[in-house]
Amino acid sequence: MHVSLSATAYAKLNLALHVTGQRADGYHLLDSLVVFTRYGDALSVTAAAEDSFTLSGIYANQVPVTGDNLVLKARDVLRAHYPDLSSAVAIHLEKNLPVASGIGGGSSDAATVLVLLMRLWKISAESADLNRLCLALGADVPMCMHGQIYSGGVIAKGIGEDLQHVQNLPELPLVLINDMTALSTPQIFKNLHKRDNPPLPKLPGLTTISDLCDYLTSTRNDLYAPAASLAPQLPRILNILDDSGAKFTQMSGSGATCLGIYDTIAQAQHAAAQLRHNYPHWFIQATSTVTASALPQL
Ligand code: C5P
Repeated sequence: MHVSLSATAYAKLNLALHVTGQRADGYHLLDSLVVFTRYGDALSVTAAAEDSFTLSGIYANQVPVTGDNLVLKARDVLRAHYPDLSSAVAIHLEKNLPVASGIGGGSSDAATVLVLLMRLWKISAESADLNRLCLALGADVPMCMHGQIYSGGVIAKGIGEDLQHVQNLPELPLVLINDMTALSTPQIFKNLHKRDNPPLPKLPGLTTISDLCDYLTSTRNDLYAPAASLAPQLPRILNILDDSGAKFTQMSGSGATCLGIYDTIAQAQHAAAQLRHNYPHWFIQATSTVTASALPQL
C-alpha cells in the first residue's frame, strides 16, 4: 500500500483589501484582512512509481496542466530544494473553485500541495524558508500557507508576505457568488487609478459577527473600481447578495467573486439555495470560515 495524504485547499477571501503603494518592481503593497473558507479544492498526494497529475471536479477543464500549473510548480520547487528527500508522487486535484476569480484557488492549491508533500517526504522547513518558497510561487501563496497551518484570519501586508495572525475572529457564515466572469489580476492592478491609499483602520478586539461587519464598513477593496470597469455587473451582484439578507458584502481579491456575510449558517444556506435557483449557471456556494478544529497540522 502506498502512503496517501489528502487535504482541503481552502478558498482565500479578502474581507478588506487596501492598496497602499507600489514597489519599484511593479508589485503593489497591500493591507488586507484575509480569512479562509471550509469550501475549497480537494488535493491528495500518493507515493508512486512515477510522477502523475490528475484532475476532477466541476472546474477541472479550466486548469492548465502544463508549466503554468501552480500545483506542479509547487512540487518542483520543493523537490529542487530537497532533492534527497523527495520521491515520485501521484497528485490529484479536485477543482471545485472557479479559476481567476479572486479567491486564491491556485495559490491555495500550491500551499496545500507543499503541506502534503512536506508530510509525505518528511521535510521540516524553517518558517522563514517556507515563506520564501511560497512567495516564489505567488504573492498569495504565503497567506494561503498561513491558512493551512493556523486558525483564524490573517492581516497580509507587503505584497502578501508580511503576515500577522488575527485571533478571535468569529466563525463567519458566508455565501460566495460569481457569475462565471474570469478577471486577470495583473490587468486589474494595472487599471488602478490611485495606488497610495490609506491602510486598514486598526482592528479592534472583535468577538461577534456584528462587530466584524461594523468594522468592515470602514474598510474598502481598492481593486473593486478597476474590476467593476471590466465587469460592470459587479454592483448588481453585490445588490443581489444584499437582497438575500447579507449583513455585509464585498468583492474578494481582484474579483470577480463576491462574498456575503450572514448571521447564521442556516441563513447563508437558505440564501445560496434561492440564488442557485435564480442563477443556475453561476458559482454560488454557502460555506463558513475555517476554525482551529478544522485545520490539519503540519
Ligand atoms: O504573484 P502573483 O503571480 O499571484 O501575481 C499576479 C500578478 O498580480 C502579478 O504579476 C502582478 O501584476 C499583480 N500583483 C501586484 N501586487 C501584488 C500581487 C499581485 O501587482 N501584491
